[in-house]
Amino acid sequence: MTATIERGAATAPVPAPKSTPKRKKAGGFLGSSNGKKVVMAVTGAVMVLFLVLHMLGNLKIFLGKDSFNDYAHALRTLLEPLLPYRTLLTILEAVLVASVVLHMWAAISLARRAGKARPVKYVAKKPQANGYTTHIMRFGGLTIALFVVWHLLDLTFGVVNPKGFDSSPADRMIAGFEPSRWWVTLIYFVAVVMVGLHLRHGIWSAVQTLGWANRSRYRVLKASAALVSAVLVIGFLAPPLAITFGVVK
Ligand code: HEM
Repeated sequence: MTATIERGAATAPVPAPKSTPKRKKAGGFLGSSNGKKVVMAVTGAVMVLFLVLHMLGNLKIFLGKDSFNDYAHALRTLLEPLLPYRTLLTILEAVLVASVVLHMWAAISLARRAGKARPVKYVAKKPQANGYTTHIMRFGGLTIALFVVWHLLDLTFGVVNPKGFDSSPADRMIAGFEPSRWWVTLIYFVAVVMVGLHLRHGIWSAVQTLGWANRSRYRVLKASAALVSAVLVIGFLAPPLAITFGVVK
């Protein structure tokens, strides 16, 4: 005689969840960490390009006041008469401002995301290279932003410059860094070194984000990031130091 055993359903019914948790919206590419890093890399590249051109333009002061003023005038009359006075420069300034804003937005949201990923602080804080870099990038970025405000009030609008607004760009530059105003040169010195440190790390991070830093190129790319930063720092500091030490009058 065979006995039949009632086994029931092969798969036990799974009770339906009381409420299905809503999935967070992905937020698209810009909402992702990678998207934000790409925003930082692209806007950073725009700013590096601006800095290289700005540094080269500043060096014109070594060729004399007229050469520097001609260059400043050329910037304002780019593509004239095709475009009205200062149009292209205004567009380029808008691109620069947009880059600064997007760069800061991406930096702040990445920092917040990193904070949320580790809401509980480590019990023991180990000093590490990463901590130093984070400080340099955050504190440096803020210092640079404050410096740019001072810098525009000084050399663009003449508000804090002895020559005021109704003067030529070369006169503002030479008066701004005259020997008695060594402290202004000191402010520029600190800010430009900050820019250099920020760039060295920023360029290197961008290279990694874009996936260019493989093993064989690692050293070369890291050294190139340091070289670009050093050239910019020296090139930017040359005019203020030359004026303060009386080499350019
Ligand atoms: C330390 C050396 C520097 C010198 C001597 C210098 C000089 C100048 C001068 C003379 C102008 C006015 C140009 C004009 O009126 O045509 C200017 C504008 C400007 N500079 Fe600098 N600069 C220096 C460093 C920097 C740095 C490190 C930054 C950014 C981090 C910067 C950002 C700007 C910006 C955003 C403008 C306004 C550009 C525009 O609206 O056309 N500068 N600079």
